[in-house]
Amino acid sequence: MSVTTDFAKQFIENPYPFFKLAREKAPVQWYQFFNVEGWLITGYKEVEAVLKDSRFIKEAREVASSEQLNSISENLMPAVNLTRNMMLFRDAPNHTRLRGLVTKAFTPRMVDRLRPTIYEMANYLIEARKGQEEHELIRDFAYSLPVMVITELIGVPNEDRDLFRKWSDSFLKFIDINTTEKDWEEAAPDLKDAGNYMRELIAIKRAEPGNDLLSGLISVSDSGDTLSEDEIVATCLLLLIAGHETTVNLITNGYYLLLQHPDAMEKVKNDANLLSNVVEEVLRYDPPVLMTTRWIACDMELNGQSLKEGQVALIALGAANRDETIMEQPEVFDIERKQVKHLSFASGPHFCLGAPLARLEAQIAFEVLLKHFHHPELIEEPTRRSNIIFRGFEALKFKATVE
Ligand code: HEM
Repeated sequence: MSVTTDFAKQFIENPYPFFKLAREKAPVQWYQFFNVEGWLITGYKEVEAVLKDSRFIKEAREVASSEQLNSISENLMPAVNLTRNMMLFRDAPNHTRLRGLVTKAFTPRMVDRLRPTIYEMANYLIEARKGQEEHELIRDFAYSLPVMVITELIGVPNEDRDLFRKWSDSFLKFIDINTTEKDWEEAAPDLKDAGNYMRELIAIKRAEPGNDLLSGLISVSDSGDTLSEDEIVATCLLLLIAGHETTVNLITNGYYLLLQHPDAMEKVKNDANLLSNVVEEVLRYDPPVLMTTRWIACDMELNGQSLKEGQVALIALGAANRDETIMEQPEVFDIERKQVKHLSFASGPHFCLGAPLARLEAQIAFEVLLKHFHHPELIEEPTRRSNIIFRGFEALKFKATVE
């Protein structure tokens, strides 16, 4: 992906002034946004309505022309087929069926059971920092924790965790709206490797089921319906993609905000009851997933605009979260805000399936970081990653004593 224009640079650095202007001009407007031309939706009410409206869909082939579909090159087909088995890229009734089956295996109890393991993993990562004065949050903590958690959840052996780190990086390229076909082609071999790996692991778990999500996905059934092997592979890879970069960014964006607001950091350090509010305010103020997209399934009117079948909706979750018509002083980072309203986990049928896990991981991460890192100070202003959809940093370097 190339970030060449001044607009791209400014947007990646700080998208919120642009979102504010766009929202004030019109919460629904036609816009040429990076590689995509479509309806940019920036108002809270409008974003929420669109996410809940079944006329805004995920499946491109329902609306794309046969010319567009035939233009997909042969070596991208395995990747395209893989996404066809991921609930995030499907609509009802296929989405309802897939999500229903996966929800039976990925239960709140399973997430809660991970609590002591997440503490253990976070403390293990902190232990390695003792005696060091300079730290890089992503490399030393925020990148590893979600991979450890997601691989533990799925049931991937510890020694294979590093494979998942590499694959997770490649998968991101499939999701950004600024990626080129070349990016996709480069990522395709990793997708293939990941798929083959998951098939081998499924065979192992079939022979010897464990207490993990993969074993649960293999055995789950609903009125005789079960998940096919392709669907299990796609689901595990979706959980990896959806649950990794997002959580890295939540932890890093959040710790950066606390470094910028030392009073808030001090308050939450002394009052653990604030931790859950901190997580919600970080999600609202600087969300890990800034935008998402939908296809428009039929001609319609929205906010006085005529939307046409086959066009794209660019849904700016990060813009909705700062809509002054639904909250006071949205530009202020306030960890004591009452009832934080945000759409950072989306809304409607695709509402983030991993939200309880993401919240738990982030709360534990902030708790452990605040407990062990003392007198933290930024070493240099961090650089943003050049991804439009996911909002995070390349690195976050700071000094602190660790106890
Ligand atoms: C801070 C962390 C996270 C954020 C901000 C986040 C955000 C989101 C958003 C915005 C969506 C909806 C996208 C759309 O409608 O186009 C989504 C869907 C999803 N997320 Fe998350 N996510 C996070 C963590 C996780 C974790 C930890 C997991 C799993 C372990 C996960 C699993 C999923 C799945 C499976 C979907 C698809 C749901 C569906 O299509 O029905 N997410 N997430």
